[in-house]
Amino acid sequence: MTGFDADFRDELWRLLRMRRDVRHFRTDPVDSDVIDDCLRSFSLAPSVGLSEPWRVVRVNDPARRIAARENFRAANADALAGYSGDDAKIYAGLKLSGMDDAPVQIAVFSEDNTTKGKGLGAGTMPEMKAYSCVSAIMQFWLLLRAHRIGLGWVSILDPEQLTRDLDVPSHWRLIGYFCIGYPLTEEESPELERLGWEKRQDLPALLER
Ligand SMILES: Cc1cc2nc3c(=O)[nH]c(=O)nc-3n(C[C@H](O)[C@H](O)[C@H](O)COP(=O)(O)O)c2cc1C
Repeated sequence: MTGFDADFRDELWRLLRMRRDVRHFRTDPVDSDVIDDCLRSFSLAPSVGLSEPWRVVRVNDPARRIAARENFRAANADALAGYSGDDAKIYAGLKLSGMDDAPVQIAVFSEDNTTKGKGLGAGTMPEMKAYSCVSAIMQFWLLLRAHRIGLGWVSILDPEQLTRDLDVPSHWRLIGYFCIGYPLTEEESPELERLGWEKRQDLPALLER
């Protein structure tokens, strides 16, 4: 393999810095060829035992999108009820999904009991299948961003309800519901940081042993 040069590394850092979780989308469509191309990155992702447990569902049907939105609305209301004081005030003002506007919406599930990979590596930690899906999503997210397309991860959902509403096998584990489209604005910092919910750390918590 030929090496990557310093310019490439600078660009990669720029991509990481500009990635963002997006909740405010333009409604204009995204070329489906570009989405298809980015979806191909799943097959380049690492997966435990080469199990490739990801199951990707494109949510096109307006009725299913409405059901997913209602699922989010109810889960988000429940979540808000769990906060009080300043946290409740800030939480109430957060926009935590772009499901109203995102032109492309997909749900990703993990088939934890897939026979592909013959169980290698997941015997002691079955959650490795889900982690494999997350690895694939990260690549997809970055690749989309390299096309200036944004992705927003929605996890404030009742997974069993979503599984029923999308009519997928009940044993699939929901990894996330993803809103995809062109961002309304380009941002260099997380929205949750800008709105005073949390701050980023400069370094990961790092212990030396
Ligand atoms: C597993 C996971 C679940 C998330 N779920 C939500 C969500 O339900 N709603 C939301 O607005 N953001 C969600 N996010 C996005 C995070 O809030 C966001 O990544 C974080 O605030 C940092 O912002 P940035 O991604 O723009 O750097 C999720 C992110 C991850 C990795």
